[in-house]
Amino acid sequence: MRVLVIGEGGREHALCWAFARSLLCDKIFCAPGNAGIANVAECLDVEVMDTPGILDACLQYSIDFVMVGPESPLTQGLADRLRENKIVCFGPSQAASLLEGSKSFTKDLCLQNNIPTAAYARFTDPEAAKKHVQEHGAPVVIKADGLAAGKGVTVAHTEAEAFAAIDAALSKHAFGDAGDEILVEEFLVGEEVSFFALCDGVTAVPFAAAQDHKAALDGDLGPNTGGMGAYSPPPQFDAAMQERVMRTIIQPTLDAMRARGTPFTGVLFAGLMITADGPKLIEYNVRFGDPETQAILPRLRSDLLAVVSSMAMGRSLPEPLQWYDFASLCVVMASKGYPGPHEVGSVIHGLNKALEIPDSVIFHAGTAHGKRGEILSAGGRVLGVTAWGPTIAAAQARAYEVVDRLDWPQGYCRRDIGWRAVQALSAFPSSAA
Ligand code: AMP
Ligand code: GLY
Repeated sequence: MRVLVIGEGGREHALCWAFARSLLCDKIFCAPGNAGIANVAECLDVEVMDTPGILDACLQYSIDFVMVGPESPLTQGLADRLRENKIVCFGPSQAASLLEGSKSFTKDLCLQNNIPTAAYARFTDPEAAKKHVQEHGAPVVIKADGLAAGKGVTVAHTEAEAFAAIDAALSKHAFGDAGDEILVEEFLVGEEVSFFALCDGVTAVPFAAAQDHKAALDGDLGPNTGGMGAYSPPPQFDAAMQERVMRTIIQPTLDAMRARGTPFTGVLFAGLMITADGPKLIEYNVRFGDPETQAILPRLRSDLLAVVSSMAMGRSLPEPLQWYDFASLCVVMASKGYPGPHEVGSVIHGLNKALEIPDSVIFHAGTAHGKRGEILSAGGRVLGVTAWGPTIAAAQARAYEVVDRLDWPQGYCRRDIGWRAVQALSAFPSSAA
């Protein structure tokens, strides 16, 4: 199989790395890729939103299978265009991508199908939204309806913060069209888990769970980011909890999407809160997570390409998914200043020495080659240092051993990825239904 991966981040490096180990894989291309991805794939100078360019590349390079990393090409209809051109793609149609593209679509679907989620109300009028907040009190969560590049959510601990978020979206149009409608949501308390299911439109196969770390700084402080690290599996997300999530959240969603004529094919990523009342859906994404994928894929013993290409072709899985019995953890190294303004173009030293450590891999998230072949930073999130071991603590120690061999003064990372699991501080509520 000749495979094309769409994207340029750490998630796409992990996907290319996993596909490269597949017996089915003849050659991997990545559009546009990055300097690390170039070690396992041929990088094409085509941007993720350039649908005509991607279709041309598929013809030119005789691509058999396409895996799309980020959501924006999917919400723009890339999977539809590929399938119209008889190219197999594991990703949802534009219509099914509404599960990520529109928060109010997903909330309404939950309400109509008894899928547990935070209570909510929708507003376009700022005064009505504020009145609702006054009646319910803080903490409360304010969300722009559409895709706002991860910036459209405010967890407001006071009424004043909530009012400011309402004004930003509805009066100042801080999120453009994406914020013309907002959701005001109940604040959920519990442990957050990212759960992934592989869907063929009719059935869903549970894939894996991970815990992300969204805050920029140690102790979960500082601004929200795309994710500063992840580990898998979250020890307290047991088989019973997974079964409950499949039964009460994932399968009803798949059934509802099929019933409305927009079956969901691809990776369904449920952002969950495990509350005292059981798992509740925070949001859906229609793709793999970043950096969750970097933590999850080293654990996968099955051939990822065989799995996703079979599902994309509507075939059942060749065999049940197999996993290695170890824990895996990814530490993101970001440019200093990220998620705010940051510089790019600094040289990352020590990569070769770091790569000598066994049971580890460095996924590149935002890198480019310099003139003399050196590796330069080229984004906010730059590397995903991933390691594995018998426990989360062992994986964590090894990942930081790799981090400490890197010499990159312009970068930073959190030093506490995995702390919840390592300190066993989190008491997950029981999974009994
Ligand atoms: P989202 O972009 O919807 O994933 O939201 C970003 C983050 O805000 C989530 O990862 C949660 O940590 C938090 N969040 C979103 N909705 C809620 C909610 N209803 N209750 C508590 N936290 C939430
Ligand atoms: N790590 C969260 C996401 O991929 O959206």
